[in-house]
Amino acid sequence: MTELTARPWLAGLAPYRPGAAAPSAAGSLSSNESALGASPHVVDAVTRAARAAHRYPDALATDLRAEIAARHGVPAEQVLVGNGSDELIFLLALAFLAGGGTAVCADPAYRVDEISTQVVGGTVTSVPLVADRHDLPAMAAVPADIAYVVNPHNPTGTLVPRDAIRRFRADSPAGLVVVDEAYVDFAPDPLATTAVPLVREGGLAVLRTFSKAYGLAGLRVGYLVAPASVVATLSGIRAPFSVNRLAQAAALAALRDRTHHEAVRVHTIDMRRRVSDLFTHHGYDVVPSHANFVLVRVPDEAAAVRRLADAGIAVRPGSALGVPGAIRVSVPGDEGWRQLRQALSRP
Ligand SMILES: Cc1ncc(COP(=O)(O)O)c(C=O)c1O
Repeated sequence: MTELTARPWLAGLAPYRPGAAAPSAAGSLSSNESALGASPHVVDAVTRAARAAHRYPDALATDLRAEIAARHGVPAEQVLVGNGSDELIFLLALAFLAGGGTAVCADPAYRVDEISTQVVGGTVTSVPLVADRHDLPAMAAVPADIAYVVNPHNPTGTLVPRDAIRRFRADSPAGLVVVDEAYVDFAPDPLATTAVPLVREGGLAVLRTFSKAYGLAGLRVGYLVAPASVVATLSGIRAPFSVNRLAQAAALAALRDRTHHEAVRVHTIDMRRRVSDLFTHHGYDVVPSHANFVLVRVPDEAAAVRRLADAGIAVRPGSALGVPGAIRVSVPGDEGWRQLRQALSRP
């Protein structure tokens, strides 16, 4: 029997490290989950869907896909639903980067963009942010199969205007520009920001997730809006039932509850300002954020993480996200806000 060894390029891979949980959900501010949870209609939809748990889900998530396509005014053939946007990022890597492909990302990037590229034997060029923003001219100078732009950026929360994305698409030699809009619902004007209208111009795809503004992180649903040829390629290589029945029902219900979605958006934008002001008031530098978290520069990262942990609050250490000397704090709900204020006012 030959000894089974993992592919050599997997040896040095640094795996994804999820954020730590806090003793209470209110204090869990490390993973940018929704502070208001999912719509109550989601719970009903999941309960109904559970009655058919013995039956395989619709492989193509036809109803959800149609609703997403209608929302964006694109044909259903340009939409692919995945097990979180993470699955779609891995599918992009499998299809377009396996065996020596190249990706260009910001530094820091969303880790899954880097990991998925490395897993399939591709290479990543990382282009440092300038003043916490994507350096799009420098990224456009890098030859690559895929260029990833995270907008708003994680972990800084900075925003790239649509015109700059359009210019980047024109300037970049990348075969596909992937704009990850996990946090776009929290931008001041999501409709004016989203790159979805650029998909029809070619060579560009947009990733969205139900994990943030729709509060479905635990159910794992994301989607890609892309040229039909890209969707067809990814559809051909995906695991057929990766988006389960409960997740499809939940996402459809979440999408239809516009009132809850708007309440999450309003809460997040208001609370983001309060959290930013709180840290500023205590003498810290805060990067102006367009997402559901804020990046706070701290003189001693480990001490800041420990101090908050002692008060029952989990945040993400910046060094785990490629920004040492900072902490990333997810926008809390009212109880988490009370805990945060108390923790910061302790001597
Ligand atoms: C930029 C970015 N993209 C994608 C994701 C993952 O989304 P999903 O839960 O849909 O896999 C995250 C999650 O934190 C993220 O920050």
